[in-house]
Amino acid sequence: MSTPDPAFDAFLDRLPKAELHVHIEGTLEPETIFALAARNRVALAYPDVETLRAAYAFHDLQSFLDIYYAGASVLLTADDFHDMAAAYLEKAAADGVIRAEIFFYPQTHTARGVAMATVIEGLGRALDEARAKGMSCDLILCFLRHLSEEDAVATLEAALPFRDAFIGVGLDSSEVGHPPEKFARVFAEARRHGLHVVAHAGEEGPPAYIRSALDVLGVERIDHGVRCLEDAELTARLARERMALTVCPFSNVRLKVCETLAAHPLKRMLDAGLAVTVNSDDPAYFGGYLGANLRETCAALGLTRAEAVTIVRNGLAASFVDAATRAAFLARLEAAVAAG
Ligand code: HPA
Ligand code: ZN
Repeated sequence: MSTPDPAFDAFLDRLPKAELHVHIEGTLEPETIFALAARNRVALAYPDVETLRAAYAFHDLQSFLDIYYAGASVLLTADDFHDMAAAYLEKAAADGVIRAEIFFYPQTHTARGVAMATVIEGLGRALDEARAKGMSCDLILCFLRHLSEEDAVATLEAALPFRDAFIGVGLDSSEVGHPPEKFARVFAEARRHGLHVVAHAGEEGPPAYIRSALDVLGVERIDHGVRCLEDAELTARLARERMALTVCPFSNVRLKVCETLAAHPLKRMLDAGLAVTVNSDDPAYFGGYLGANLRETCAALGLTRAEAVTIVRNGLAASFVDAATRAAFLARLEAAVAAG
């Protein structure tokens, strides 16, 4: 066990950070799920918050996704989406997040009869309010990879009237059996519209999925990517290309991608020269937000201040912002580091 180091934790808390891998539906706390279920008269399969929370004992990605989609079923109105995002953005700001790139899953909602406009209007309103308070934030639309590419194409089409409301597309949900190349056409279409592209790859899926995310989809960042370490040549390429990997330590432990935080591959990834970042993924389900992920992972792996700063710097550097904004973020980080 690592020894708590309050001074190190306080230092980490003060650093300005980017969060590049958070699913907004994964920020829905159990209490909020029950409050929204009551507000919208949606029936839940769990009698109370404690029973729901007790069900958060996952053995793999799919066992999590099944509960996660059930939780998201309480979201119906633009206010629901707004309130969920506003609650996340407030917590992120308290963790020192100055840049948030937030995934949302429209197919989970449109399949239940919620309009794309409702989802985007509610989320967008919360982001506008956060921007007014000084946060830099944007949305990334994610396709569900267990559904067909045709469904993803239809989703992109339905979202394009709101093109200014999101900056990119991503790919998530059940990874194994749904390789990136299944979505080659829709990603090409997204790139034609000037959207950024990212994909979950190498979480449960093999290193080959990371390669096809890069070579077929043309992604600019890999979400998770921890299994790259099984392939030395791929690891060397990712390091050489400075490809950012949005690693989510609490998620990896809770979904059994690794056994414990102390056994997490993050330190080995850093040592391999990879551009790793730390993120929360689905913080309401995996035991904590960005600050907690960073503090506990640094402690469990015995990372130095310099290593922690490298991780935070990687996140700011991999943000989808213009060069001047990125330089300003990095200058804020260096100032915070210099202040100790
Ligand atoms: N992987 C795949 N799908 C997801 C995840 C994840 O980590 N979080 C939410 N949906
Ligand atoms: Zn994720």
